[in-house]
Amino acid sequence: MDVYDAITKRKTVYSFLDKEVDEEVVLKLIDSAVKSPTAGGIREYEFIIVTNQDTKKAISNISLTPHIDSAPFMVIVICDKSKMDAVFDEEDSETFCVENAALAIENILLMASSYGLGSAWIATLQQDEIKKLLDIPEKYKVRGIIPIGYIKDEAEIKRVSPKVDLSRIVHIEKFNKNNA
Ligand SMILES: Cc1cc2nc3c(=O)[nH]c(=O)nc-3n(C[C@H](O)[C@H](O)[C@H](O)COP(=O)(O)O)c2cc1C
Repeated sequence: MDVYDAITKRKTVYSFLDKEVDEEVVLKLIDSAVKSPTAGGIREYEFIIVTNQDTKKAISNISLTPHIDSAPFMVIVICDKSKMDAVFDEEDSETFCVENAALAIENILLMASSYGLGSAWIATLQQDEIKKLLDIPEKYKVRGIIPIGYIKDEAEIKRVSPKVDLSRIVHIEKFNKNNA
């Protein structure tokens, strides 16, 4: 599948078949994550792969996202900002950590899509609870929870993304206020 197809087919999915994903595929997803560009060349994020059913259920409850525990595994993306702080000022450091994690997560979502797998990016508003559940040290921040698996309800992904009028958001050469 080419990159554009993987991008186009990717849709947020919350319900998954009770079917394992090959370990080789899981590793390929992580391998694709770490191939994303990084601010300052600093790769400060790490991953926790969760397969335990009780833990997945707890994550689903804490994140207020029902059904995602049906995924055979979840990838939790965490960042140690102190590595970035050593090089950048505090504000840039925070921004770069978010940007780096976002790129890594998007690579995972797209790679999953290329394997015909469904996925979702679940934000972590409940930092303390997730960190406690997964024994994540204080200095880390959880940047995303990504349930991944084979799609249970194809109708869910047939949902059509809203059509975007590119002429309203693409400016040629300079900002064109008539686009608004
Ligand atoms: C940074 C970020 C955080 C998100 N957090 C959540 C979330 O907490 N819960 C959720 O159900 N979906 C979450 N999503 C998924 C979005 O709701 C979803 O991408 C959006 O509705 C567009 O649908 P699509 O991914 O199928 O195109 C998040 C997406 C992003 C990029």
